[in-house]
Amino acid sequence: MENQGTRRCRVVLVPPPFQGHITPMLQLGAILHSKGFSITVAHTEFNAPDSSKHPEFFFLPLSDNVSDIDSSFWNLLEVITAINVNCKEPLQRYLVQMMEKQEPHDQVCCIIYDSIMYFTDAVANHMKLPSIILRTTCAFNFVAWHATPRLLAEGYIPLPESLSNELLPGLHPLRSKDLPFTGTGELELLEELRKIRSSAAVVWNTVDFLEHSSLLQLQQQYQIPIFSIGPLHKMAPALTTSLLKEDTSCVAWLDKQAPNSVIYVSMGSLAMVDKKELTETAWGLANSDQPFLWVMRAGLVDGSDQCVDLLPKDLKEKIGERGHIVKWAPQKEVLAHRAVGGFWSHCGWNSTLESICEGVPMICRPGFSDQKVNSRFLTHIWRVGLEMENVVERRGIERAIRRLMVEKEGEEMRQRANELGQKFKFCVQKGGSSYNSLNDLEEFILSQSS
Ligand code: UDX
Repeated sequence: MENQGTRRCRVVLVPPPFQGHITPMLQLGAILHSKGFSITVAHTEFNAPDSSKHPEFFFLPLSDNVSDIDSSFWNLLEVITAINVNCKEPLQRYLVQMMEKQEPHDQVCCIIYDSIMYFTDAVANHMKLPSIILRTTCAFNFVAWHATPRLLAEGYIPLPESLSNELLPGLHPLRSKDLPFTGTGELELLEELRKIRSSAAVVWNTVDFLEHSSLLQLQQQYQIPIFSIGPLHKMAPALTTSLLKEDTSCVAWLDKQAPNSVIYVSMGSLAMVDKKELTETAWGLANSDQPFLWVMRAGLVDGSDQCVDLLPKDLKEKIGERGHIVKWAPQKEVLAHRAVGGFWSHCGWNSTLESICEGVPMICRPGFSDQKVNSRFLTHIWRVGLEMENVVERRGIERAIRRLMVEKEGEEMRQRANELGQKFKFCVQKGGSSYNSLNDLEEFILSQSS
């Protein structure tokens, strides 16, 4: 049950059904709740968040009709499009019902929606409610998206494979192959995602000092307030947001390892690898002589529920006690553990922020979309990561692990990551940029309801 207490007004949140997006939205909800707002989470039935973990929120399941659609990674565009068509009517209907019954102290004052749930804009307009967009990727990702028409006109999209290492004009440090989309097929959806529509403001899960010039550029373009209040996980009270069950056995295993000795390996919630890459990675890890904690999510290798069974027996024997494999880890706790000294990552934005916050340098193996942008910034601008592209071969992997975990190069990255992590902490403290921006957001939401 939701605790009413003395609440100010109600904010309706609309997250899409993906882990990397649900987490920051629930974190934002927890932050706003701690500021006195009541929170309703309008979510899809597909990949629904666990309402029992958030008794302080009210949950509104939207009938999405995607159960008949293939929801595998390869078909996500279709799933997103279907959700945007199917969830509009139920959200509108629920809002009408809510607003008919609402008490004066519990009026809906605004809707905050993830860019992926773009149908919300029309619903908010219909209900004459102000809406705010939550962006869950880095700001530069949108700078790159907004450059798409220019890049198309200049012939950079689609660029021949032979020129994929070309640096893109006006988008330093991206090369054409780092663009957060792979071909013209995704452009229609991108167009939807980057629109501001009638939103009154944008909330960004980023940190001002990290992306100052990108945020300024977007601010000029959007002409509406941008509130950068990241990293959200450091602003929010501790929260369980995992869609999958966390295997906490790994914490006891980490307790037995030496400080900064463990490389943590995770490809996030969507990215996949093929069987060859899985096996080569395992050999690289085994040969590196470093202890490792590896998340092998069900489906990490297409169609496999138990990816660990795909590893050859002699390799499993070689790994022995030195490697610990789980299906899903309590990642924030893992990255904060003193034993973890490096993160082999797909460079999702949440993972990137979580790693930097704990001063953990990364081996960057981006999969798709914004992950390529994040990887480029991690390796070439913030210099807290090693680029690991197109290398799926055990010796290259072993070498990268040694560079990060035992060599001076890795130590220097760890130091830079620590410095960045310290700066993040200042940003969320009283007087810091994210702290101040959150106060501004609070005032802004209240001003919308008056
Ligand atoms: C994708 C995109 O790549 C990301 O940049 C975008 O903003 C959201 O969608 P995803 O694959 O989910 O994201 O990665 P990431 O953004 O890193 O989010 C994964 C979340 O799952 C993180 O908060 C991480 O802590 C959590 N996680 C991951 C766990 O709790 N346990 C795990 O074992 C692995």
